[in-house]
Amino acid sequence: MSTTTNSVPKHWGLPEEWELAALAAGRLAEYLPRLAYSSAGYEPDPKTEEPNPSYAPRVVAQDDATPGAQAASDAGAFVPALRQAALPYVGEYPLEKIRADFPILAEKIKDRQLVWLDNAATTQRPAQVIERIRHYYEHENSNVHRGAHTLAGRSTEAYEGARAKVATFIGAPAPENIVFVRGTTEALNLVANAYVRPLLRPGDEIIVTLLEHHSNIVPWQILAEETGALLRVATVDASGQILVSEYAKLFNRNTRFVSVTHVSNALGTVAPLEEMIGIAHAQGARICVDGAQSISHMPIDVSALDADFFAFSGHKLFGPTGIGVLYGKSDLLEAARPWQGGGNMISDVTFARTVYKKAPEKFEAGTGNIADAVGLGAAIDYVSAIGMDNVARYEQELLAYGISELGRIPGLRPVGSATRRAGVLSFVLDGHSPEEVGRYLNEAGIAVRAGHHCAQPILRHFGYEATVRPSIAFYNTPAEIEHLARTLLALTRLPYISSTY
Ligand SMILES: Cc1ncc(COP(=O)(O)O)c(C=O)c1O
Repeated sequence: MSTTTNSVPKHWGLPEEWELAALAAGRLAEYLPRLAYSSAGYEPDPKTEEPNPSYAPRVVAQDDATPGAQAASDAGAFVPALRQAALPYVGEYPLEKIRADFPILAEKIKDRQLVWLDNAATTQRPAQVIERIRHYYEHENSNVHRGAHTLAGRSTEAYEGARAKVATFIGAPAPENIVFVRGTTEALNLVANAYVRPLLRPGDEIIVTLLEHHSNIVPWQILAEETGALLRVATVDASGQILVSEYAKLFNRNTRFVSVTHVSNALGTVAPLEEMIGIAHAQGARICVDGAQSISHMPIDVSALDADFFAFSGHKLFGPTGIGVLYGKSDLLEAARPWQGGGNMISDVTFARTVYKKAPEKFEAGTGNIADAVGLGAAIDYVSAIGMDNVARYEQELLAYGISELGRIPGLRPVGSATRRAGVLSFVLDGHSPEEVGRYLNEAGIAVRAGHHCAQPILRHFGYEATVRPSIAFYNTPAEIEHLARTLLALTRLPYISSTY
């Protein structure tokens, strides 16, 4: 399909072995000139390759690290700069150094270099996190809060230290505002059952949005079914952005609670959270934010946002699976009833009555996932050293580049084109099912999600049952985006290539 020398390739197609080797070895400088050629040499066929207007290339200003900030409209300013740099940097860190911290990024898939673009499903872990968990089991393992011995002291210190790191990372007033849970799903179920359920009477209303992941729909549906409450859904515009004026109209005297995603996992839309929280509070309603998809892409300050609850999963933040966080304002955690009963969450038990501890222990019945909480603390140390504002800035640039590159693919239709987006490039490709695209990309070593992304309502709103969803993290490179684009282009031309060979 392509030439075997390091010179100009004759065809677009899967990358040359030498390119993959350069990429694998982190020698992007070798790879990048080829990329510069491949885009420069690519002449779109105006008959078949109309650029998609909703995939207009955008770039974020260098000094604007605002989460999901509106990107400017000149990718040209960004792309050459990216390519001229021997290696891109994220803040002060060369990407090569960052990538070397993630052992799995060196993995081979079908003899090809792994390109991990399924970060919205889960992120990869740096060696620092893996090593921290190993250290915990080798030197600190014990149950927490329960013994006078040295290891109990070490494990408690490590576990509570991780809680304090989470609090600082998301701008919570104190570690006591941080409840460790299994993940976002469990956090949202906790809010629904421990805080909202006791408030509900038949006819009361809960507001969510069309953008929600099933984790922020189903718990509320179950609750509504069991209490006679009603679920109301804020809609989106054609780009996939929340229509704030319509959202505001959903509030009435029956509104009891609001739960909204910060970033859509299916479209990448960054919701206008400040406005939405302001409206909910002005209407006297408390609001929970599903931060599963924002936590790894932008700085989060729950206090500045004035969120009442905020939930996220460790595995979406380069930390372990099985650990997550629920942030809650102190008075709300105090008002919420216990959600599971057992050890660790009580201060006194008789058969007549139980006295519960205060938050966060009140919500942490039984032995928690101590080692993975400690691992999450290490992940937070890792991203904090790079700086979430630097991560946001770099990713906005990479996303703009991805939008521009995918815009070159004939028949590729983006799903979701909101001005404020983070992390995700969702699309369908004419003539190829999402599953087929996913399998084809896998042959080239590229991992993306193809399916409904546990967000069926928003996909169906746009008329799809499934999309292809590449999703980025700060360790992804422009070269990987280029590889994605060229592989997709090769797929669109497959029938032509096979008929002429
Ligand atoms: C927006 C959103 N909310 C909630 C979840 C659920 O997260 P978890 O499966 O880690 O509980 C996800 C996972 O993809 C998500 O993207």
